Amino acid sequence: MDAREIRNLRVLMEYEAARKAPPASFPNLPDIPGGRYTDPRFHALEKAELWRKSWLIAGHMDEIPEAGSFKLWETAGQPIVIIHARSGQVNAFYNTCSHRGAPVVTDASGKRARLTCKYHGWTYDDEGALVAMRDPEDFRDFDASCRSLNRVRCERYGSLIFINFDADAPGLIEWLGPIANEWKEFQFDKTRLVDHYVWDLDSNWKIAMEANTEVYHVKSIHPATVAIGLDDRRNVNVFYPGGHGRMVAPNKTNDVGYARVRPKLEIETVGEIARTCTQSYGVFPNIVTPLGPTGFPMLVFWPNGINKCRMEVWWLGPDWGVGERPSDWDQTIDFFNVVLEEDTLFGRWIQKSQESYGFKSVPLSYQEARIYHWNQWADRLIGIEKIPPELRVPQVMGDEWLYPNDPRLAEAGALMAAE
Ligand code: FES
Ligand SMILES: [Fe+2]
Repeated sequence: MDAREIRNLRVLMEYEAARKAPPASFPNLPDIPGGRYTDPRFHALEKAELWRKSWLIAGHMDEIPEAGSFKLWETAGQPIVIIHARSGQVNAFYNTCSHRGAPVVTDASGKRARLTCKYHGWTYDDEGALVAMRDPEDFRDFDASCRSLNRVRCERYGSLIFINFDADAPGLIEWLGPIANEWKEFQFDKTRLVDHYVWDLDSNWKIAMEANTEVYHVKSIHPATVAIGLDDRRNVNVFYPGGHGRMVAPNKTNDVGYARVRPKLEIETVGEIARTCTQSYGVFPNIVTPLGPTGFPMLVFWPNGINKCRMEVWWLGPDWGVGERPSDWDQTIDFFNVVLEEDTLFGRWIQKSQESYGFKSVPLSYQEARIYHWNQWADRLIGIEKIPPELRVPQVMGDEWLYPNDPRLAEAGALMAAE
């Protein structure tokens, strides 16, 4: 983060603490229709449009470290083989043989020079080309060059692997927008995979994700963990193009809460804000990541039907050299899991209550505006016309609220001058 951005953030933190109402130019947010959490029509639209057109996190290079290493990835509901090719690139293919559609891989991971279908032995190289088959003379007018594995778009941000099912989607870097640049100080290309685990949860996936998208709930749900360390009244939200968002809230002190239990090894290039604040990103559609100077978790939320979901936790950290990860990671992860449990255990109660006849719609505060911003962009990606009118979210947050625009800076100047 550059000096100007840091200066602006510090001004905005004081502005947030001093304001007595939402910013004058901030729009009134209409209620979010409750059906967006419970209506099968909206769930189906998410499946058909949102998950199909978004860049989705699919893995880390430590899972496929060498040429020939592969993993099967089915988290997004499609069977995909991700392979570290001899070219050094990572390729992704549907795990669907070009003959009669059998899988070419049935192991969760492994290492192979070529992928051979178990049904009749068609064999593909790491670029997906069909390079060998049994009894080729029995196929008339056969052109092997048209029978490659079907490729899926696969790009990397540092050591993270992303997949997109949409041939027309922008590239990953364009998708990330300003985030791609802001994340440079965290050296994603050098991060190691510290840990990876999944929790299956009894709530709609957005309930689980939204618990990590605002600080309004912190005093109620995390009184003894997050609340004691976070200066939530100085939290500054920003809204990036594409539905992404960021919060930055100063730590009251680095002696309590999460800041106290960080591992020792540092990513040296990490700047002042991430060292003294909670700097957490929401990457559209389903990633939340509070970045930090000694490594960080990436929380990734996936629907599992309409009323259940899966939360994946990817922990990334600086390279610790050979051997096991440093033992001080254990207390970091343990602490963080306590916080996650506070959110996720409550999520199943929210689910039950939202499924009642009594749940109609959601009025959001200015503090929770990143949730509104997310919903606006979800509608744009899905296609507003495809959404039943009663399930749409009006597009009331205009481009003047899209980063780097920020009407609060002018209001902060006026507020300070008046004091
Ligand atoms: S289905 Fe793969 S070789 Fe026949
Ligand atoms: Fe929370």
